[in-house]
Amino acid sequence: MMFENKHIVVGISGGIAAFKAAGLVSQLRQKGAEVHCIMTANAAKLVTPITFGELSGNDVTVDMFANISKWDVEHIALAKLADLFVVAPATADIIGKVANGIADDMLSTTIMATKAKVLFVPSMNTNMYENPIVQANMEKLRSFGYEFVEPESGHLACNTSGKGRFPALTTIMDCAEKCIYGRELLKGKKIIVSAGGTQEKIDPVRFISNRSSGRQGYAIAKAAWMEGADVTLVSCTTALPTPYGVKMVYVQDARELEKAMNAEYDSCDAAIMAAAVSDYRPTVQADQKIKKEDFDSLHIDLTQNPDILYGLGQKKRGQFLVGFAAETQDVIEHGKSKLKRKNLDMLVANDVAMPGAGFNGTTNIASLLYKDGHMEQYPKMSKDELGHIIIEKMAELMK
Ligand code: C5P
Repeated sequence: MMFENKHIVVGISGGIAAFKAAGLVSQLRQKGAEVHCIMTANAAKLVTPITFGELSGNDVTVDMFANISKWDVEHIALAKLADLFVVAPATADIIGKVANGIADDMLSTTIMATKAKVLFVPSMNTNMYENPIVQANMEKLRSFGYEFVEPESGHLACNTSGKGRFPALTTIMDCAEKCIYGRELLKGKKIIVSAGGTQEKIDPVRFISNRSSGRQGYAIAKAAWMEGADVTLVSCTTALPTPYGVKMVYVQDARELEKAMNAEYDSCDAAIMAAAVSDYRPTVQADQKIKKEDFDSLHIDLTQNPDILYGLGQKKRGQFLVGFAAETQDVIEHGKSKLKRKNLDMLVANDVAMPGAGFNGTTNIASLLYKDGHMEQYPKMSKDELGHIIIEKMAELMK
């Protein structure tokens, strides 16, 4: 489990989104974390500490002086124990206190005393969030290494709409994972990843495509973001949730994908071409829907698409270039020749006919082939895990 053996302290301050922190505590615990909650006095007016006690399975601290025999050690104990501190929701008040060195209750005092990473999840009314004082406080905290999750835009409790919403739990979980496991292996590097299957238009309602889900490419983009890279994900699918912290470019067909990759390529440090590109496209793309009344039999003439990856290999100037080979036979042999022909640094080869590998599911079975001829074979694993391995290996070679 993701947070096995990790101690996560969740600080809940008194924003109306305090009830949403209950979902977060539950998720963290389900992923194996040992969760300890500290609430501010105002948070405890919004949601009862019993909720957080039940969900975390641990005592909840609100009042520093409630247990007079051990109050002085409790904040130090939690501060020491923590692998990560998540303050969710983080009000303008708690942000302001920490930014200015105020430690006047259990939450602010424990934050002050910890050496663990602190991840703030600001959620508040848009005007409060945009207030230059709050912005300056966040900037100051960032400069000291405190981390932030960007609030979402949308409907707010004050019945207005704007930036300041408590983010999706998956976003907070991803940021927590990054804080705990990210090693900044790709800090300062710009990475472009392509994902999903291209859709080649036949007419306004039909297209030719393939079984690629985009999951492997999305997992790679997330792994690169976790390692501190500046990531652009060029996606041929809209079916997957937008990953946090990644610049998205949506495209449909191979020619749009080629344009998007080329636009970012010169300024990037690495390009990972995980998209399943249609080798052919309909030569003519009908402006109007093709009617069955008009044809007894229909022939669609196909034209070959550009090999985008080959093109990137040709104009490579120091970029680390990764390709994929989805094969149904002689995977390694085909992979080796592809790596050479397309001038790649690494190739991820998989036998898409094997159960648990390839296009659709959540797992993959892959071999990594390298420019110098060596090769590593991996057992079946989740696409997320494989994404991390690809990024780690790549980062090692880019040093
Ligand atoms: O030649 P093949 O299609 O097997 O190569 C697969 C690799 O090449 C993948 O990384 C895929 O993204 C890329 N590719 C491409 N343009 C094409 C076909 C494949 O960039 N037209």
